[in-house]
Formats: sequence, structure tokens, C-alpha cells
Amino acid sequence: MASRTVPSQETMRSALGLACRAPSVHNSQPWRWKLAVHSVHLYLDRSRLLEIIDPTGREMVISCGAVLNHARIAFAAEGWRARVHRLPNPAQPDHLASIEFTELTEVDPHVETLAAAAANRRTDRRPFLADPVAQEVLAPLREFARLEDCTLSFALEDRERREVELAIQHAGAEQRDRPEYRQELAAWAGRHASAEGVPARSLPAEHLRGMPERDFALVAEGELPVPILDDGAVLAVLATRGDSYESWLAAGEALSAVLLSATKQRLATCPLSQVGEVGTARNQVRDQVLGGSGFPQMVIRLGWPVTSEFPGPLTPRRPLSEVVEPLFPRE
Ligand SMILES: Cc1cc2nc3c(=O)[nH]c(=O)nc-3n(C[C@H](O)[C@H](O)[C@H](O)COP(=O)(O)O)c2cc1C
Repeated sequence: MASRTVPSQETMRSALGLACRAPSVHNSQPWRWKLAVHSVHLYLDRSRLLEIIDPTGREMVISCGAVLNHARIAFAAEGWRARVHRLPNPAQPDHLASIEFTELTEVDPHVETLAAAAANRRTDRRPFLADPVAQEVLAPLREFARLEDCTLSFALEDRERREVELAIQHAGAEQRDRPEYRQELAAWAGRHASAEGVPARSLPAEHLRGMPERDFALVAEGELPVPILDDGAVLAVLATRGDSYESWLAAGEALSAVLLSATKQRLATCPLSQVGEVGTARNQVRDQVLGGSGFPQMVIRLGWPVTSEFPGPLTPRRPLSEVVEPLFPRE
């Protein structure tokens, strides 16, 4: 029997379903999958652009990079190596990547644990415990970013940490004063029964002063119980060498790899993107933390969670019928 060159529709459905557990800015899920006979294609869905915080579509492309890396892991866990062709195609800038497949003879157990992490990962906006995160835990995360041609710099010294916190605060203060920012945030945050946006139950019931976080309380009432403790999170800056579509896609792939590897190690994580949204904050991080080079794409908070089980369900996703087309033609 000739070996198959494309996963079955059942495998396709389950792998793309898992891929779509990827994080995205404001849970906008700005991706679209198109199925061809021997390949799968990833497109940007521009209708989901956040025009105020993301006018260039940078975070939209980062989100698509995250779904692409999730897809590689999801297919590998189902026994298929996904060969990714990234497509910087000026004629079709929204066509970000295509995937072709090779059937694997066995599944790497490490990939299986990453796939399990993808199924359970969530953005944790609570403060984290003060227990230190050991170098042996952090070093592999830096390596995962490097493999995607990105850098992950941990702001471990007081001065660097303070600079990152100040940059987030500065960006937040600038954004807060813009009615159009508040309006856009309100349209996406604090939802109750929606397959998109950030639900109220994922947002802290109380805004903890001084926490380096996006202030969703500005527009939405959170429902997530938060312990009152000093945040012990490590702050890491994810950066790229350039600032093009390719760099953004790579940043998203690195973000996914870092978050899943951290989740596998039972760390809690939270991406924070405001430092990339306000030019002066971005320059501050580049100059004070990255030694003046590179393009900060986002900050990742990570640390030990206050409870081993996160209270409440996973953040919802749009049904596959809205993001895959044609929906499983081989059916
Ligand atoms: C590009 C990008 C930017 C994000 N920025 C923030 C942010 O500034 N603050 C925050 O709390 N979460 C941020 N997130 C996390 C998303 O809100 C989260 O992934 C989404 O709501 C889905 O929830 P989940 O990660 O729990 O599945 C960001 C995620 C991505 C991919």
C-alpha cells in the first residue's frame, strides 16, 4: 500500500482544533486555514484586525505564528511531520504559510507532552508565587526562542525588571487616555458567552496595583478570584532582529514554543504586548534591557501559579467551521 501523503480528515480536524488553542491578541483568532488536496494553507483574517492597538497587523501576524507552531506540534503528536513553507509573498501578503506532510514512523513522547500542554495552557493574569524560577527551567525557554531566530531576555536584575515594569506602565498610561483605545478594549474584553474575546472569568476580579499587566479593569469587570500577594513573576522580553512580516511570524512561533515548554514545566504564563504598541515604551525596553538592539515584540510574565489547577474553564475558541475552508472536502 502506498504511504499516505496527507492526514485523514479526522486527524486534520483534531490537529487543527488543537492548533486553534493557540493564544491570540485579545483572543481575536485572526487566522484562516484553507485545505488543499495535499497541503494546508494558513492565511491572515484581516477582518479581525485590532485597528487601534495593532494598526500594522504586527500582533495579528504574531498570533498567526503561534497557531502555526501549535499546528506543527499538533500534527507531530498525531504522527505527521508538518513541513512548513513560510511565504513572504508580496503579491499575497495574507498567505503566511503552507504545510505539507510526511508520515512519521513513531511519535516523539516529548511532542506528546507539548500537545498536552497546548490543550491545557491558558493565560494566567493572577500574581505568581515568589518561589524562584531556576536557571535550568529558564534556559530551555531561551533556547526555544533562539531556534526561531528570536531572543528571549530575562529581566532578572532589579534595574532591568524595573525598566520593563515602567515601560508597561508608561504604555498603559498613554493608552488609557485614548477613548478609542478604551472603546476597542471594551469591545473585546469582559465577555460572557462568546467564542472570541477575553471572557470576564479570565480577568482578575481585582486589579492589583503595581502588577505589570494590561489594565482590563478599565472597561470590564473581571470574575477571576485573585490572591492578594506580591507578584513574583519573571519578566522576559521576546525580541526579533528585524520588524517585518517574517520577523513577526517567527516571534509568534517562538511565543508558542516558549509558552508550551513553560506550561509543560508547570509554569504559569501571561503574554503582555503593550510595550510593542507604544513607540516610546518599545524604545525604552530596547535601550534599557536589550542593550539598544533588536525589536521587542512582547513581554512574557512567567512563574509558579498560586494554585495547581486554574479555576474555571479554558478560554473559548471559534468553531472550526468558521476558520477552516472548505470544511473537510474529503469527507
Ligand atoms: C500577540 C498577543 C498579544 C497578547 N497581549 C496580551 C496582553 O497584553 N495582556 C494579556 O493579558 N494577554 C495578552 N495576550 C493573551 C491573550 O489575551 C490570550 O491568548 C487570549 O485571550 C486567549 O486566551 P488563552 O491564552 O487563555 O487561551 C496576548 C496574546 C497574543 C498572542
